[in-house]
Amino acid sequence: MADQAIIDATNLSKVYGELVAVNRLNLQVQEGEIFGFLGPNGAGKTTTILMLLGLTEPTTGAARVCGYNSAREPLKVKRLTGYLPENVGFYGELTARQNLMYTARLNAVPEKLAVSRVSEMMEVVGLPDVGDKKVAEFSRGMKQRLGIADVLIKDPKVIILDEPTLGIDPDGSARILDLIVDLSHRRKMTIMLSSHMLYQVQRICSRVGILVKGKMVALGSVDQLGKKLEAGKTTLDVEASPATPELVDSIKRIPGVLNVEKSGDLLTIAADKEVRSLVAKAVTQTRSALLQMRLQDYTLEEIYLRYFREAH
Ligand SMILES: Nc1ncnc2c1ncn2[C@@H]1O[C@H](COP(=O)(O)OP(=O)(O)O)[C@@H](O)[C@H]1O
Ligand SMILES: [Mg+2]
Repeated sequence: MADQAIIDATNLSKVYGELVAVNRLNLQVQEGEIFGFLGPNGAGKTTTILMLLGLTEPTTGAARVCGYNSAREPLKVKRLTGYLPENVGFYGELTARQNLMYTARLNAVPEKLAVSRVSEMMEVVGLPDVGDKKVAEFSRGMKQRLGIADVLIKDPKVIILDEPTLGIDPDGSARILDLIVDLSHRRKMTIMLSSHMLYQVQRICSRVGILVKGKMVALGSVDQLGKKLEAGKTTLDVEASPATPELVDSIKRIPGVLNVEKSGDLLTIAADKEVRSLVAKAVTQTRSALLQMRLQDYTLEEIYLRYFREAH
């Protein structure tokens, strides 16, 4: 599993009646990344996360986390993944420490280890002095921090945070995001966080994916997405079924092609001249079907203006 993505969605869809909430999503997150899963309200972020965790069944496609199929082995996925849902639930009448001890027991963390880990994690999330306070007295920001501590109790490999800064003021949000960066660096965790606030969150992400109406409209590093395309260079998105290694090789041999990245059946092709007809030819020559081809022409700014401004 050395080069296998730690989070891997292939052709993942979820249909509710007439509504396609998630539409053939392909996504790979590599170990150690902070991946920002961004999109306006209703885009399908939570639905995707629930499928990754094995909490809801995909209509088509498959999700794998840490090498396990989420629909078939949800318990294995659950053991290795910490999940902070949009609305964290704690027992308000119990203290912060009691709540975390409860989680530790649920996860079969041995008692002695649990006691020290609970203290450690309260410290990590910046709540060292409120362990004996009832959670009912916590602010939303504090609850969210406690939620992160709660997720860390079982020492997961991956953490998935659904809108971790929702309802928290900008200052509190910045501190939560800094905490996430710290976890990624110091504990080498893979982190996926969703948000509908592109500008707030993008600064901490090594890569972002932007979901709109169930479809990933952009995927890459913030630099890649934010930069205006350099003059003369183009990026093509091509969907070919199947996108075989031979196809990738033959596209790489086309004069002018600089780079090809593969994600499921989606190919992202960087070129310094017009290569569309040659790419189409390569696809048919390898007996694949060309499902779509388009030039990338969005920048982060354009995406923001188009999709996110109204979501605030
Ligand atoms: N259980 C459900 N039944 C029917 N529709 C749902 C259900 N869950 C989510 N949806 C719909 O799917 C779409 C995506 O929702 P969601 O994944 O919550 O988006 P996001 O988290 O990006 O705001 C929305 O239109 C939402 O109303
Ligand atoms: Mg959501």
